[in-house]
Amino acid sequence: MSQIEVRELSKEFRYAVKEPGLKGAVKHLFTQQYRDKLAVDRINLTIEQGEAVAYVGPNGAGKSTTIKMLTGILVPSAGTVRVNGLDPHKDRIENAKKIGAVFGQRTQLWWDIPVAESFALIKDIYEIPDLEYKRNMEIFTELLDLNDYIHLSGRKLSLGQRMRADLAAALLHNPEIVYLDEPTIGLDVAVKERIRRFIKHINQENKTTIMLTTHDLGDIEDLCKRLVIIDKGRIIYDGTLQAVKDAFARERVLHVQVKEPAPVLLEAIERLPGANLSEETRNGLLNGGKQLSIAFDRFRISAGDVAGAIMKVAEIVDFRIDEPSVEQIIRRVYEGELDLASAGKGA
Ligand SMILES: Nc1ncnc2c1ncn2[C@@H]1O[C@H](COP(=O)(O)OP(=O)(O)OP(=O)(O)O)[C@@H](O)[C@H]1O
Ligand SMILES: [Mg+2]
Repeated sequence: MSQIEVRELSKEFRYAVKEPGLKGAVKHLFTQQYRDKLAVDRINLTIEQGEAVAYVGPNGAGKSTTIKMLTGILVPSAGTVRVNGLDPHKDRIENAKKIGAVFGQRTQLWWDIPVAESFALIKDIYEIPDLEYKRNMEIFTELLDLNDYIHLSGRKLSLGQRMRADLAAALLHNPEIVYLDEPTIGLDVAVKERIRRFIKHINQENKTTIMLTTHDLGDIEDLCKRLVIIDKGRIIYDGTLQAVKDAFARERVLHVQVKEPAPVLLEAIERLPGANLSEETRNGLLNGGKQLSIAFDRFRISAGDVAGAIMKVAEIVDFRIDEPSVEQIIRRVYEGELDLASAGKGA
């Protein structure tokens, strides 16, 4: 049995709609109007112990709703969730011992007491043995700079401190699974990097299963082999991050600076299969320019071959190759521009 098993899971929210203004408010008292929103729509997901899964999708796609059902905060409308064989909602207490969760949008720390005391309370609640607690505190202090803010109460923490304290709090009891819903939202690059390294450490050293949602794809590049994309409540891709990159990251752009203007380059490059000159480069070359940008399909021609063709007729003084970022690729998936079926393993 897999650690997390989700079958045909759905969540429908029913919410009251009210006409604006006083008239609406009065009317609201007598005739309640409801609307339904299918936030998660028959998803299937199987996650093995030790995996690090990126769960991404545009705003409102259903990510947080899924995580809330996995953690037991929300009851599914249909379908089943099994985490370590438990029903996370019905067996909430049992389930909580084995999981940790961080919701980037709000803290789980006590507002009025110092972080250190929040941690001590968590130690008691989860009955964390002294030795384990001490060891974790040492590791977390180093990886998350706890000493800088552990004496402050929850309300006094900066966002970056709060997020790190929340991460530590969620992991003190060595959970087998940790759900991270936007753990780097609003953080500066340095703190983001620290958090990413910390999550990677937990996944690699403790084999903790990670399920992470984010809008910053830099969070997942170095951590998650597996990528699940959800859109409008449906899973539209479940496969490796690499497969998406391979299928879509075929475009490369070679930027070259040559020593002397060489209009013959125009012809040399246009002869290459799979390579295209930008309009700007074309005009530039015709007017004595020394900068070229050549887009090419790396499945049809290598960067070396493109550069080789240039070197036959001109001297290269500088060059750079750009590839689309994961961010750009996935954005194009959301926008329906890229066909997932061609990634080989579309869901
Ligand atoms: N309690 C609720 N009542 C009514 N609708 C809700 C409720 N919670 C979420 N929704 C709706 O369900 C949909 C999915 O929301 P969810 O928070 O899961 O999206 P998300 O993928 O986490 O988005 P984001 O990236 O913006 O955090 C949205 O349309 C949202 O408005
Ligand atoms: Mg969300």
